[in-house]
Amino acid sequence: MSKKSNKSIEEKSADMVVTPWEVSGIIDYKKLVKKFGTTLLDKKEIETIQKYSKGELHLLLRRGLFFSHRDFDWILKMLEKGEKFVLYTGRGPSGHTHLGHLVPWIFTKWLQDVFDVELYFQMTDDEKFLFNQNLSFSDTRNFAFENAKDVLAVGFDPKKTHFIFDSHLTPAMYRIAAEVAKRVTFSTAKAVFGFSNDSNIGMIFYPSIQAMPCFLPSVLKGKNVPILIPAAIDQDPYWRITRDVAPKLGYYKPAAIHCKFFPGLAEGGKMSASQPDTCIFTTDTPKQAKKKIMSAYTGGRATLEEQKELGGEPDKCIVYWYEFYLFESDDEKLKQMRTDCLAGKLLCGFCKKNLAEKVHHFIGEHQERRNKISKEMIEKMIIKE
Ligand code: TRP
Repeated sequence: MSKKSNKSIEEKSADMVVTPWEVSGIIDYKKLVKKFGTTLLDKKEIETIQKYSKGELHLLLRRGLFFSHRDFDWILKMLEKGEKFVLYTGRGPSGHTHLGHLVPWIFTKWLQDVFDVELYFQMTDDEKFLFNQNLSFSDTRNFAFENAKDVLAVGFDPKKTHFIFDSHLTPAMYRIAAEVAKRVTFSTAKAVFGFSNDSNIGMIFYPSIQAMPCFLPSVLKGKNVPILIPAAIDQDPYWRITRDVAPKLGYYKPAAIHCKFFPGLAEGGKMSASQPDTCIFTTDTPKQAKKKIMSAYTGGRATLEEQKELGGEPDKCIVYWYEFYLFESDDEKLKQMRTDCLAGKLLCGFCKKNLAEKVHHFIGEHQERRNKISKEMIEKMIIKE
């Protein structure tokens, strides 16, 4: 039961900021969808996915962490017509991987399995170098390899997964980025990304690098390929400009499926490496991870008596959210947990311990797979020409 902030929920949601570089305030996802002009995922699309997944839906979809999209219905229509899509996602290697990063990758792997499709994974070691005064290229390149181990530990099919390392841009990649850059004015970039006269010119060019993988499969395969991007919704501004440019270059507009931010262990806010105590890194020992869970923010009351009398507040509880989105797939068990919490029959210590065991196990298994991945394996998957 950690300290509460003084601001009301209304005040915080009024300060909601979501850009590729900053996520703060309490996020009102309905408002965000309106503001960004994306579409909430609908039963129709979910039913179509079920046709391909033999009825099974990934928890992250079923419970709504993935909640919004652009043209996902079109991707499914193309598929029905026999035109397969390619997945594209990425990572800005500015530090070690944490649980919040793994979440969209876990879902992306599920999509790869269900639809039997290729994945292009971009490691933006240039982005993190350009945007962060404290990181050198050698830092971001090291993190890129470290993070790639986590990507592969999630279980992507190595035969169907290709890495783009931005510091290894091929001539074809550079040409695509330049084609994009030529068609985006500085005034658009300023409006979409908030660049100013203080922004370095590398930052201003960078969006065309993140747009490039949307067109690379089409260039490499010599035919137009539909692209689906699973990513957190803060990356959407990139897809907005990419989609504007696509028809000018004769390509399909990339489609996207967006997820919400995975919470950190403190009250409010996404999991962030800048708050290491409330963030579970894949490089933490299972014991450290367990300890962090034991100090998570819960929906518990101030005293035991109050908890028994009033019940807990699962909707405010980080432990409950972790179970909801990631760790308790059994709907009945989750419902029971919620009912018992509301009735004051569950105590926070019990729930934390229970989750800590699950996280301990999860991190342990992830690390076992991660330790088997060598730099050579990653090198082989980097697109080099
Ligand atoms: N900009 C992203 C980050 O900072 C990295 C990234 C590049 C990405 N391409 C992407 C993320 C495609 C999602 C989808 O993490």
